Amino acid sequence: MNARARPIGVFDSGVGGLTVAREMIRQLPGERLIYLGDTARAPYGNKSPETLIRFALETGAFLAAKGVKMVVVACNSSSAYSLPALRARLSVPVVGVIEAGARAAVAGRRGRPIGVIGTRATVRSQAYARAIHGLDPEAAVAAQACPLFVPLIEEGWIRSATTLEVARAYLAPLKRRRVESVVLGCTHYPLLKGVISAVLGPDIALVDSAREVAREVRTVLEADGLRAPSGRVDFSRHRFYVTDPPEQFRGLARRFLGRQPRIATVRLPELPPSA
Ligand code: DGL
Repeated sequence: MNARARPIGVFDSGVGGLTVAREMIRQLPGERLIYLGDTARAPYGNKSPETLIRFALETGAFLAAKGVKMVVVACNSSSAYSLPALRARLSVPVVGVIEAGARAAVAGRRGRPIGVIGTRATVRSQAYARAIHGLDPEAAVAAQACPLFVPLIEEGWIRSATTLEVARAYLAPLKRRRVESVVLGCTHYPLLKGVISAVLGPDIALVDSAREVAREVRTVLEADGLRAPSGRVDFSRHRFYVTDPPEQFRGLARRFLGRQPRIATVRLPELPPSA
């Protein structure tokens, strides 16, 4: 198949990466996506680096077998650890979400610290601090793990009083640091924007990397001559796979994607732990 006509592979531990997929579908209407939510092994946010790398390589092998022309790691926890191993293994470009979020935060910088919220794995990796300092060595970064956000979102507790209370507790240290912005360093968090900005107030900007990731995908596709010719917008050409029976994913997917996708369950190729 003509390289430009090949699909783009996108993966996450589950539904969170759909916030990135949605933005890619919006910005790149000619492209075809193959999305994999590794729901059988989610959440990723509390896994070790070794496990996250192995999961990413297995998912990368699955997407490569589907003939993708690029892989987008639409999960911060996985992006924080797996990009070098994936790039070494795959022969197609690999785009993560952390560089894009860091770039967006630094672009709007006014001089106060930049806040970052994410899973334990992402915050432990310090990947955002490294990416932000790579762009602006002067920038101060305050990171806060918010491990209860993902289960609250997956339970649909988007606007509950409990979620507001949890958000107040998590975000208080960032408010004390007088951050100027907060990077939503987890692909689930755009769904909590309402609660998060209610707690932070209007002076603290929220950085949602999905838009920036889609922009980066376009730049890389164009640079490599891989951009699909713009065609008819047709949602049904995208493919959505999960690794566990899809019932829960199906319910959440509509909320994340704004559309109800058709979903199939697949088994990923297992690689030996040392692979
Ligand atoms: N999508 C993951 C991330 O962006 C969060 C969900 C999980 O922990 O699996 O880090």
